[in-house]
Amino acid sequence: MIFKKKDPSEGKQNIIELTHQHVSSGKVGFYEKYKIDMVMGRREGPWLHDMDGKKKLFNLHSNGGVFNLGHRNKEIINLLIEQLNYYDIGNHHLPSKPRAELAQKMAELMPGNLDYTIFGVSGGEAVDLAIKIARGYTKRKKTVSIKGGYHGHTGLAVQAGDAKYRSPFLLQSDDFLQIPFNDINSLKEVLNENIAAFILETIPATLGMPMPANNYLKEAKKLCEKNGTLLILDEVQTGLGRTGKLWAFEHYDVIPDIVVLAKGLSGGIYPMSATVIDKKLETVFHDDPFVHISTSGGAEIGCVITKRVLEISSNPAFLERVNNLSKIFKTELEKLQLKHHKFFKGIRQKGLMMGLELKDEWAGPVFTKAAFDNDLLIVYANNDSSVVQFLPPLIMQEKEVAFVVQQLDKAMRQAKKLHMAVKLKDNIYSTFIGFVH
Ligand SMILES: Cc1ncc(COP(=O)(O)O)c(C=O)c1O
Repeated sequence: MIFKKKDPSEGKQNIIELTHQHVSSGKVGFYEKYKIDMVMGRREGPWLHDMDGKKKLFNLHSNGGVFNLGHRNKEIINLLIEQLNYYDIGNHHLPSKPRAELAQKMAELMPGNLDYTIFGVSGGEAVDLAIKIARGYTKRKKTVSIKGGYHGHTGLAVQAGDAKYRSPFLLQSDDFLQIPFNDINSLKEVLNENIAAFILETIPATLGMPMPANNYLKEAKKLCEKNGTLLILDEVQTGLGRTGKLWAFEHYDVIPDIVVLAKGLSGGIYPMSATVIDKKLETVFHDDPFVHISTSGGAEIGCVITKRVLEISSNPAFLERVNNLSKIFKTELEKLQLKHHKFFKGIRQKGLMMGLELKDEWAGPVFTKAAFDNDLLIVYANNDSSVVQFLPPLIMQEKEVAFVVQQLDKAMRQAKKLHMAVKLKDNIYSTFIGFVH
């Protein structure tokens, strides 16, 4: 076999060139066009540095919750180093101490009969499994999801998402239906004896964090029960303390049949996802317990880390800190909104799950760029680009809030100017839309 010779240089431009040639030419072109010049280098807590050391960003996106505990959390890293003396991925066929103990911890932290957990690697994989189980249990084929909701890009998860992620790949199935969020009448109309599952994010992040209306989730659960449909709550972004409670659904007095978790379960270190199911659903695997497997899902070394993540995130003192921080942000963001009220229209907030409502669909992408120029990593909501997602790491310090607010203020001022320029230049930012989730 002939291996291509590579320039051993570690320079930033070289990495960008290699990315262009071997990872994604489109992404490199995109970042060049909008002068977002960054290759991730050193990272620590809420900060990530450019590899040339010239720029650093305060992470207010946290990868949707992956970095809830910050980058390279010391406790997690020390645990990983210690446990690598003993564990590896393990064997997914055999019973395992870390996996069993993690599943027990999960059951302890979940309400009702959510007693069983099947671990995977990604959120999409966990959503796929949730829908598979719903279909297997109900013997029905159809799934209802939310217009503008997002569950990942794998087989069934992508089917439950929006057409723009499906149509390029000719993925269209009559087994998937979508209804508007917070619209209980649409749910009433669509549910019948053919619907296996209703899946939604407790607070839909990619749709810009609209908050569930009073009783929406509770009513939805009642309707599902009446129709023999299972309720799947995707807590990939909302779970693990993000909203000030361990699980976001705890705010809404509802217990789903299935909960999907991922992102933050990894501690930012080892990929892990979970499909937590009501005890009754485990019967799906009684005939053949090997009918679903995941070679690297529930890796033993990952289970050790995830158990520590659960212990940290469920600690009442940790949740109290999240709630205190969220109060401080509420006050500060309200002041900022007053100051920039023509551009910054409103705040959506549940704990540290926040969305900043901006002027129009161009404002989110423009603000994302202005925030980057002012040392903040902030990303607009891909399915409603008038909102930017505001997800600080849960471990950030109170004393860091002043810096964040000061930079937000500067970014608002820059974004307003840029927004005017966009208008004048006839939508030069149109291709900005479609950036991230
Ligand atoms: C709410 C939600 N569900 C599922 C997923 C899919 O997770 P993954 O990218 O790990 O497959 C995501 C990813 O952004 C998400 O935000």
